[in-house]
Amino acid sequence: MTTDERTDHLDTLAVHAGQEPDPATGAIMTPIYQTSTYVQPAPGEHLGYEYSRTDNPTRTALQQNIAALEGGGYGLAFASGMAATDTLLRLLEPGSHVIVGNDVYGGTYRLFEQVIARTGITFDYVDASNAVAVASAVRPETRMVWLETPTNPLLAVVNLEDIVRRVKGSTSGKYIKIVVDNTFASPYLQQPLRLGADIVMHSTTKYLSGHSDVVGGAVVTDDAEVYERLKFLQNAAGAVPGAFDCWLTLRGIKTLHLRMARHCENAQAVAEFLEGHEAVEQVLYPGLASHRQYELAVRQMRGFGGMVSVIMRGGEAAAREFAARTRLFALAESLGGVESLIEHPYSMTHASTAESEIAVPPGLVRLSVGIEHVDDLIADLAQALAF
Ligand SMILES: Cc1ncc(COP(=O)(O)O)c(C=O)c1O
Repeated sequence: MTTDERTDHLDTLAVHAGQEPDPATGAIMTPIYQTSTYVQPAPGEHLGYEYSRTDNPTRTALQQNIAALEGGGYGLAFASGMAATDTLLRLLEPGSHVIVGNDVYGGTYRLFEQVIARTGITFDYVDASNAVAVASAVRPETRMVWLETPTNPLLAVVNLEDIVRRVKGSTSGKYIKIVVDNTFASPYLQQPLRLGADIVMHSTTKYLSGHSDVVGGAVVTDDAEVYERLKFLQNAAGAVPGAFDCWLTLRGIKTLHLRMARHCENAQAVAEFLEGHEAVEQVLYPGLASHRQYELAVRQMRGFGGMVSVIMRGGEAAAREFAARTRLFALAESLGGVESLIEHPYSMTHASTAESEIAVPPGLVRLSVGIEHVDDLIADLAQALAF
């Protein structure tokens, strides 16, 4: 898409942003540039590509596409969501302090506590659905606030504008970068940069790719200085995705808007069904009027997403039983693919938080609601709950 054809419509950006017909052949789809290196007419002279750790045209197309979807100036793709997170944390000097929402992906907590903490960076975990608590945790050495919304797996909604206002308004506010892991919502449902965040991070493995066939990560920012440092780190540390993975992700993104609309529709119906079921104590879904931040979700999000969590009346045993009995919902980690998944966070995705200050309830079950026919999904859940 050329710069004079710019649009704000995500549906068009998903299909076109970052992608031009191949100048060499006219191929309408960005080719998989499966090459590690590029010929140089003379030493140091090249067409912008010298080595594929540094840059690769398929990766460039993906980076520009995701940046456009998030409404940001710069995008960078990584080998996984964790690689993106790890690279972001390398922006910080030893002695820095990071405020983290107390409901985050278990792997993020593991990376922070078992890897990054050893480099002299400290982490405080706070309830980010309380913007005052986040702002109160700011210290002179705070350099980053790490947020998810909706959170994983409890699906709390975090008021991004309120947190940005309070944190940036604090005395050390100008040194603090606010990062939002936008994996659960996807840019279709919310664009954190437009709400004042400095950096958006994604596990593109999930809704962006959308087909459970690739692992990847991405970062988007409008801050040129942050971008330059991250671009340096991307090449220096080298946690980059291969060309085929970039191509798969680009291909998935082309239907993001169609998939997300159906994920939201199906998840709403599933949440309403589960809310009325006697085996279920509580349904956590931002699209239910009973959700703690329902009104905020209506204001901040374009839809409520495909993730639904439930707390079972029968505790851990019932949660394990429910997760093991579904047939259409596959028992598996991950989320955001076209197929429905079910999991038990306590023993699966969030096992690394066990016994910690951010441990998840043992009676919790998390559903990634896919795009199948909703009647089949509900019938499957109904039979699985009949024990
Ligand atoms: C919210 C969130 N962030 C980050 C990650 C990590 O991404 P990846 O598995 O692509 O490394 C995940 C993975 O489940 C996730 O759910």
